Amino acid sequence: MTPALSQSCHQLFSAQFLSAPHAKAMITLTVNGKTHRVDVDPQTPLLYVLRDELALNGAKFGCGVGQCGSCAVTVDGAAVNSCVIPVGILQGRRVVTVEGLGTNEKPGVLQQAFIDEQAAQCGYCIAGMIMRAQTLLDQNPSPSDTEIRTHMGPNLCRCGTHMRIFRAIRRASEALKRNAAPQHETGRERT
Ligand code: FES
Ligand code: FES
Repeated sequence: MTPALSQSCHQLFSAQFLSAPHAKAMITLTVNGKTHRVDVDPQTPLLYVLRDELALNGAKFGCGVGQCGSCAVTVDGAAVNSCVIPVGILQGRRVVTVEGLGTNEKPGVLQQAFIDEQAAQCGYCIAGMIMRAQTLLDQNPSPSDTEIRTHMGPNLCRCGTHMRIFRAIRRASEALKRNAAPQHETGRERT
């Protein structure tokens, strides 16, 4: 998390516990490439705005205190826990949720890999897992096993499907490498 966002999380906790609710304000947000205007208290956690105002229900409320990752989305390409990000600091920033990576008909590379590996048991953690994994593959399409484990460390899965999640990320990495390679080198159809 960037220092600015981390500081904002601290401010959010202070605001929640030390002060009365703030007045609503009109906030302009860019989520999955679309611009939205929402009329909310600027201290409202991004997660609540995504789910309650924008009907984007992929990110889940788990702990509510930034400790489990089930609410993870990306802001300007970095994974953040949306339960502790006040929406008021997001003017002009680029938010992406799991819905922004693909559709039921055309899943993104990571989404397809999670399906292929049957990585979900209850599925509650999966949107956050995919978003955190996406930030890894965006920076490093060929991560080592250690890099995958270290990067995914902050996200928890209560069902214990960590090895399937790990295999899904590895599978997505392989697919990205195949797609990036010239076809005559792989001899395979691009996916
Ligand atoms: S619900 Fe946000 S980190 Fe757990
Ligand atoms: S699949 Fe159930 S919490 Fe991860």
